[in-house]
Amino acid sequence: IDLMLMCIYYVFGLTDGSDVTQTPLLWTKEGQSATMSCNHTKDATYYQMYWYQQLPGQNMKLIVFTTTTPPHKYEEGFSEEKFPAQKKVAQTGSLTVNNSKPEDSGLYFCAVSEHSDAAD
Ligand SMILES: *[C@@H]1O[C@H](CO)[C@@H](O)[C@H](O)[C@H]1NC(C)=O
Ligand SMILES: *[C@@H]1O[C@H](CO)[C@@H](O)[C@H](O)[C@H]1NC(C)=O
Repeated sequence: IDLMLMCIYYVFGLTDGSDVTQTPLLWTKEGQSATMSCNHTKDATYYQMYWYQQLPGQNMKLIVFTTTTPPHKYEEGFSEEKFPAQKKVAQTGSLTVNNSKPEDSGLYFCAVSEHSDAAD
């Protein structure tokens, strides 16, 4: 009864959607944590990973921007305690929803991007 759905089957890269795989579907219980991962087969210059959340009826929001060199950059309204992210190597990363609540149910997306000096 306290199961909830975290549905995360859509992935995109900032360049194109190919070569990226993400945890397809995740169920968890209230109060537990759920970890989803995102992998890609692009080369190591794609070491930047973005995690987005889209709650029902809302727009997609950026949770955190991660690279292989933490600290990760959390957006306002999202904390590292609630959404711990891991990024050890370029090709893979994960996001945990800590102490999950029914209102955390929604879509979670990852996106990867290539390092670009022009972007920052
Ligand atoms: C991504 O790679 C990690 C480490 O190799 C693995 O544990 C995880 O299951 C993979 N995730 C997906 C969605 O393929
Ligand atoms: C998960 O959240 C609890 C409080 O709700 C906090 O004590 C704990 O440190 C958090 N875990 C992580 C990995 O941040």
